[in-house]
Amino acid sequence: MHIDIITCLPRLIESPFNDSILKRAQTKGIVEVNIIDLRPYATDKHKSVDDYAYGGGAGMVMMIEPIDRCLTELKAKRSYDDIIYMSPDGQLLTQSLANELSLKKNLVLLCGHYKGVDERVREHLVTREISIGDYVLSGGELAAAVVADAVVRLIPGVLSDETSALSDSFQDDMLAPPVYTRPAEYNGWKVPDVLLSGHEAKIEQWKHDHALERTRQRRPDLLKKHQ
Ligand code: ADE
Repeated sequence: MHIDIITCLPRLIESPFNDSILKRAQTKGIVEVNIIDLRPYATDKHKSVDDYAYGGGAGMVMMIEPIDRCLTELKAKRSYDDIIYMSPDGQLLTQSLANELSLKKNLVLLCGHYKGVDERVREHLVTREISIGDYVLSGGELAAAVVADAVVRLIPGVLSDETSALSDSFQDDMLAPPVYTRPAEYNGWKVPDVLLSGHEAKIEQWKHDHALERTRQRRPDLLKKHQ
């Protein structure tokens, strides 16, 4: 997979890709992430990427021209499954959307800033908008990092134990069961006996029961989807 992230603040998004799973995915050659600074695509001598809103109002608006020039250059190199604008108005990111995106080959994530982008970018250049939740961030960079992380870890070969993504919360619309590690007893707080029993079938049943119970208690809305 190839992910191009367009931003006017590249430093805001660099570090998540230089550590842990996102870094490993790139080192293994499974994912190529390219963070693109929008500023060199500006056309005036001040390298402006934003301007005042027509009709007035507080806040600057990101201009269409630098974004279009940047996208035109990218599209000449490869074809994209989706050009995604990160926005609180977008489709809410869920595990199911992450699963869908993990099957794509080439993606662009466009990060908005200030008051957002000129509406014509959304009408004519972007194919999809994604929100990471019903709150407003200062820009799309952190949201783009969240999307990239949620998607990349699902690509086969990225996690060393592939089954570990399958047992995440939200796969199968259920939260994950509780997990424990050594010691088996701490301060008198014990790990459930069944997990130490070595009895595979009983352990699977325990995990399923506890995942279900936790989902019932904390996120009954997830279970309602199946009814
Ligand atoms: N940009 C600002 N807020 C955002 C959000 N909640 N999701 C995605 N992009 C954003």
